[in-house]
Amino acid sequence: MIEKDIYILGIETSCDETSFSIVKNGCEEIATVISSQIDIHKDYGGVVPEIASRNHVKNITIVLEECLEKANMKMKDIDAIAITYGPGLIGSLLIGLEAAKTLSFIYNKPLIPVHHIAGHIYANNLVKELQFPLLAIVVSGGHTELVKMTSHYKFQKLGATLDDAIGECYDKVARVINLAYPGGPKLDKLAKNGEATYKLPLPLKDDDYNFSFSGLKSAVINLVHNEEQRGQEINKENLAASFQKVAIESIIIKAKKAIKSENIKHIVIAGGVAASNGLRKAITDMGIELEVDISFPPIKYCTDNAAMIAAAGYYAYKDGRIADLSLNSKSNDKLC
Ligand code: KG4
Ligand code: ZN
Repeated sequence: MIEKDIYILGIETSCDETSFSIVKNGCEEIATVISSQIDIHKDYGGVVPEIASRNHVKNITIVLEECLEKANMKMKDIDAIAITYGPGLIGSLLIGLEAAKTLSFIYNKPLIPVHHIAGHIYANNLVKELQFPLLAIVVSGGHTELVKMTSHYKFQKLGATLDDAIGECYDKVARVINLAYPGGPKLDKLAKNGEATYKLPLPLKDDDYNFSFSGLKSAVINLVHNEEQRGQEINKENLAASFQKVAIESIIIKAKKAIKSENIKHIVIAGGVAASNGLRKAITDMGIELEVDISFPPIKYCTDNAAMIAAAGYYAYKDGRIADLSLNSKSNDKLC
């Protein structure tokens, strides 16, 4: 019997991107529209929640209409609506959720709640079907976690950061050497042309799967201040390379341990920092060394977008995870 194709409309508004996407069968992107507010928040050195919410309100219907038009589809062609219910900025999340509920109510479509990090993991399914047991290396602005999956939509946390997320650390280090927000991609670019000449401490080498980035961040800030006080100029490329080397090494050490002891067949990276050239190279090398299959989301799916939410939403839908209109946003919800 031929199964009917399922079209999921994904909605993502957890931070400063307003995005809608239509994805077929959890793996084929039909159309995605992302309206980013980076230029608006740049002047403040980070995302201002109140401004983000107001801009989501301004953009949301325009982005929806553009997405349907790009896909050449109407709401009647959609099977279900997947919405990021959390975590994220509460005001921003609520704008997307209200839009999702309204569409669900008016067009009588099932409402599928999707955790933002599940979305980042499923961005990989848009390139290559996930294979299990899978290790997702989650590296975003708000999260750093190792998540194991033994089947679709079953997540098990192996470990996580005990303090700062790796993306947050990239951004703070970037700020201390005067790179504009968001500093992560700029720092990654600088690191490519530098050498790791500055000595920085490798955090949490011990035996579990947890991470720590606040000590590394403080070490970089202290180093920069000390050099400034001594009238020495910082070599930004070398500092970026030194920071990146240690940050990546701490991820790789724990990932290797998980791959070996959890019988992992497939590794994916998820979240904004998955766009990092340095991290992609280190994970590729690790995959070759340990003979494990690896996939990365394309750069456009690394940072926040609704295609990943629609992809995850398909598997949540198949798993029967349908919410009613009492669904609420959660700024701080755990994936597992
Ligand atoms: O996943 P994301 O868009 O937002 C969260 O869900 O947190 O991740 C944003 C983070 C920021 O910290 C940003 O600096 C970082 O991802 N990022 C990068 C790169 N592109 C984005 N970090 C390092 N290298 C990059 N190329
Ligand atoms: Zn994200």
